[in-house]
Amino acid sequence: MNKIKIIFYTGTGGSKIIAELIKNKLIDMNYDVFLEKISKNNLVSQKSCDLIILIFPLHGANAPEIVYKWIKNLPKGNKTKVAIISISAGGEVIFNRAGRLSSIKLFERQDYKVFYENSLIMPSNFLIPTPDYLSRALLNILPEKIDLIIDDLVNEKIRKINPPIIDKCISKVFEIEKIGVKILGKTIKANENCNGCGLCEKICSCGNISMNNKKPKFKFMCNFCTACLYYCPNKALQPSIFKMTILKNGYDINSFIKNNMKDENFSDEDIMELTESIYWSGLRDYLLYSNKKV
Ligand SMILES: Cc1cc2nc3c(=O)[nH]c(=O)nc-3n(C[C@H](O)[C@H](O)[C@H](O)COP(=O)(O)O)c2cc1C
Ligand code: SF4
Ligand code: SF4
Repeated sequence: MNKIKIIFYTGTGGSKIIAELIKNKLIDMNYDVFLEKISKNNLVSQKSCDLIILIFPLHGANAPEIVYKWIKNLPKGNKTKVAIISISAGGEVIFNRAGRLSSIKLFERQDYKVFYENSLIMPSNFLIPTPDYLSRALLNILPEKIDLIIDDLVNEKIRKINPPIIDKCISKVFEIEKIGVKILGKTIKANENCNGCGLCEKICSCGNISMNNKKPKFKFMCNFCTACLYYCPNKALQPSIFKMTILKNGYDINSFIKNNMKDENFSDEDIMELTESIYWSGLRDYLLYSNKKV
């Protein structure tokens, strides 16, 4: 296993940070690694490799639709090995646990062999903001989590989850999100703060935005990755419905890492207390047992 392709999709940048950390680590270990981002302009992957590591954020307890498109466009795999790492805000809770299944099935249909699946947690960019102290705990622990995953991968450890039927059902039902986000994306509008800079068009990896008379126009291909909404320099964009899905204080993972990180040590008791809320219960095991397992 020498040639490794890391392929990632990201909206707000969290999955990219993870893909790059994994890439750098594998390069240090002398693997031949290349990194590709899934986007409307990169839906066909030509380079052959011994291992594909696919990384994507969970959207509605599943992979975003563009990830499915990328897998469907793959050439026949001849049993090429695949590892899938999903990134979520909530961790391996009931509605997330089956979030990699549809991608696994698509790979298998194309004659790839998914031997490994795992998950990592990043701060939330949707609906409920992760409190800063938990965001810091997640980011502090990330290198350690990545080391554990890399160790598994280079040792070709088999790790497949068989989620309970209830998780599978929820994940299937949540596929309806794919239509919902297209509708939601179509309702995004620019207000008077828009200066026509065109950055949103460049940011959108789904090709959902085109500039028209210096105003962004939204098509019906959105996966509601939220990138344009958070990273418009003038904060000029908003969906017309379900506005509460966008975090009031914005989201910028890179600036959080640059400006908000502290050296903090949380005891297991602290973690228990900080993750008491139902929203963060999926972070508890992840943060508590980090030294023992991923
Ligand atoms: C439309 C949408 C749906 C999401 N659905 C889920 C979900 O079902 N479960 C979850 O834990 N996180 C969910 N999230 C949160 C993201 O998976 C999480 O914040 C991730 O770190 C974002 O990664 P990115 O920065 O690479 O885009 C969702 C985010 C968006 C924008
Ligand atoms: S990034 Fe913001 S300011 Fe620039 S064109 Fe898009 S909406 Fe307008
Ligand atoms: S239009 Fe905005 S929210 Fe929708 S996919 Fe493009 S960047 Fe993401």
